[in-house]
Amino acid sequence: MIIAIDGPAASGKGTVARALARHYALPYLDTGLLYRAVAVSLLDNQGDSSRESDALSACDFADSLLSDSRLRSEQTGKLASEISVFPKVRQALIKRQRDFAAQTGGAVLDGRDIGTVIVPDADVKLFITASPEIRAKRRYDELVKNNPDLTYDIILEDIKSRDLRDSSRKEAPLKQAEDADLLDSSLLGIDMAIERAVALVEKQL
Ligand code: C5P
Repeated sequence: MIIAIDGPAASGKGTVARALARHYALPYLDTGLLYRAVAVSLLDNQGDSSRESDALSACDFADSLLSDSRLRSEQTGKLASEISVFPKVRQALIKRQRDFAAQTGGAVLDGRDIGTVIVPDADVKLFITASPEIRAKRRYDELVKNNPDLTYDIILEDIKSRDLRDSSRKEAPLKQAEDADLLDSSLLGIDMAIERAVALVEKQL
């Protein structure tokens, strides 16, 4: 069974994806981490995020950065979004994602283009979203502990510009697959969002 989960930043898709992976005893891949690792690699190599060739070279060193402490920062997320517009970068990361999805027994993957590009024939597709304000509040609460200079407004701006860039790019834009079920987590606590997600999975199976 392959479960494909897409949605914008801080929509709760990672939490739901991890819970579904536990529930169905499937391996889980957070594909955003791959793009984030390329972003950190670009930083380390002092590459220019507006040059496709620099971003592509950064892919070669991304593997060793998959547990780097900088992966989860807001700056890395923004840089990941910038370099993920490049078709060659996306191409360089496709095989690893498809290989992961092809494991015997199945897998859960989350990202922006899982149900549309990476595994369009997935058994289950969910598109998880929430309002930008709620997503910004969640991200702010999560990051402010280690980053007292952050403000809610900065995060909200960042989320909105990331949404725009991710959904308007030419290659594999963020969008709901036609056969995906929509789950809006704006007004749901974590437990309720997971419960709804399990119900949608059961419906699609
Ligand atoms: O999900 P996360 O916020 O970690 O992703 C960081 C960035 O990586 C996203 O804003 C998006 O631009 C990019 N990404 C992507 N395709 C994916 C996963 C992430 O373009 N499948």
